[in-house]
Amino acid sequence: VRLLDQTKLPAQTVYIDISTAQQMHDAIRRLVVRGAPAIGVAGAFGAYLAIRGLPDDESILPLLDEACRFLTTSRPTAVNLSWALQRVRRAAAAAPVGAIKPAVLDECTRLLDEDVRACHAIGQHGLELLKAIKRTNSPALQLLTHCNAGSLATVRYGTALAPIYLGSEQGLQFHVFVDETRPLLQGSRITAYELSQAGIPCTVLCDNMAASVMASRKLDAVIVGADRIAANGDVANKIGTLGVAILAKHFGVPFFVAAPLSTIDMSIPSGAQIPIEQRDTREVVHGFGALTAPADVQCLNPAFDVTPAELVSAIITDRGVVRPSLVTNLPKFMP
Ligand code: MRU
Repeated sequence: VRLLDQTKLPAQTVYIDISTAQQMHDAIRRLVVRGAPAIGVAGAFGAYLAIRGLPDDESILPLLDEACRFLTTSRPTAVNLSWALQRVRRAAAAAPVGAIKPAVLDECTRLLDEDVRACHAIGQHGLELLKAIKRTNSPALQLLTHCNAGSLATVRYGTALAPIYLGSEQGLQFHVFVDETRPLLQGSRITAYELSQAGIPCTVLCDNMAASVMASRKLDAVIVGADRIAANGDVANKIGTLGVAILAKHFGVPFFVAAPLSTIDMSIPSGAQIPIEQRDTREVVHGFGALTAPADVQCLNPAFDVTPAELVSAIITDRGVVRPSLVTNLPKFMP
């Protein structure tokens, strides 16, 4: 499996070849590949790598289970990872002994194709929604996003950026304010990189500028991705999303979440049950090679926060737009 090393963007374009489940675990943990849908698909291929050299006999299933359990531990918050690995396990269990390896590889390919279709559908539903709510006089739709929920966070199109890519293909104009997204700068390093490559105008801002942008400019909407959505509509996404949602509420800007149904976890009633990944605090105080705080100072580094459902104006899924009350309407969209 060849991965674009996202830790090196935008300065360098480096690809990494992954040939074992251990290497895939490491790549996911280090954010070489990141974004909820992308780590789901990458994890599934990691599981295939774990079994591809094994003999075609009964020993394969327990070893596949072990690899799936191991890969699930690489990142805890995005449910897409455990969801995709569950799909791989089910495909393997349903296959005749002797055909498990091709069945697992087929399932990986299906996950890849389904993600492209889901993100394209999110793009179509999201675009209709954005056209309908446009409220500024500017010829371009004025949007703000946080972190990266574009092509690089999925297989193709992205989630939050999918309506922008599709609309832009149709000749619509956009201007995207991109939160830098401390501490690892997925906004400035990856979202601004993607949008620039696609020729879509964008402006990078430090996270603490979002309030003044909302206060002084007209925004049509905020649109972000999600790592896990609970049954009541609470949304876990990149740390800082909660602050943006609170600001959007204060300034009367619609706050949209774009995510495939694979990101919705109906097994947990609310965001309180979503495990929040705690990452190495050096990412905060020693990021990108520079010490930015006293070496011995205490520091926090939760990678995600939870935005309560009442701050979410709508969730744009591959099956359509879920409007409040999310707790009532989400189950109607689930397969
Ligand atoms: O830590 P990351 O970079 O994996 O966090 C990614 C996000 O929070 C994205 O917004 C989310 O996964 C949605 S991706 C379509």
